[in-house]
Amino acid sequence: MMTETGLPEGRIPIIRTPARPMDANKGGSIFGGWIMSQVDIAGSIPAELRAQSRIVTRAVTSFEFKQAVFVGDLINCYAEVVKVGRTSLEVFVEVYAQRICDGKIECTKVTEANVVYVAIDENRRPRAISTG
Ligand SMILES: CC(C)(COP(=O)(O)OP(=O)(O)OC[C@H]1O[C@@H](n2cnc3c(N)ncnc32)[C@H](O)[C@@H]1OP(=O)(O)O)[C@@H](O)C(=O)NCCC(=O)NCCS
Repeated sequence: MMTETGLPEGRIPIIRTPARPMDANKGGSIFGGWIMSQVDIAGSIPAELRAQSRIVTRAVTSFEFKQAVFVGDLINCYAEVVKVGRTSLEVFVEVYAQRICDGKIECTKVTEANVVYVAIDENRRPRAISTG
């Protein structure tokens, strides 16, 4: 269910940040790499909290840019751990863009991705995640 701001009800975005002119490509929309970076940062937060250790990004198993993002859009990233393996965690990340048009808030889902993180030890080797 969506709220009047267009964002999913009852969920807290992990990252909220505006897309700035420095994040735009020469075509005027936002550079995909900037969004990928926000997705990676957002996904790493629940992954690290669940793993309770250092983690690294191991794989991006899916990534869809569903709609363009523009300068001035407010990006809202939601992330949740959807699978915990022996040393890895899969996180589903969704990104919504809010923008003001004709005095109203418009909200669009712009991106979704699945990212795999691996918990690592002090030697940067995979370490087992506690089951708790
Ligand atoms: C993370 C790293 C230590 C893992 O070492 P590894 O020898 O590849 O470990 P494994 O092959 O045993 O994989 C570890 C886990 O990741 C999972 N995994 C590996 N590749 C995967 C893929 N392409 N998709 C989904 N899961 C994957 C494995 O299934 C395993 O999960 P499990 O233990 O829960 O069963 C090593 O690959 C590494 O350092 N990579 C670079 C990480 C990094 O620097 N990231 C930042 C980007 S610059």
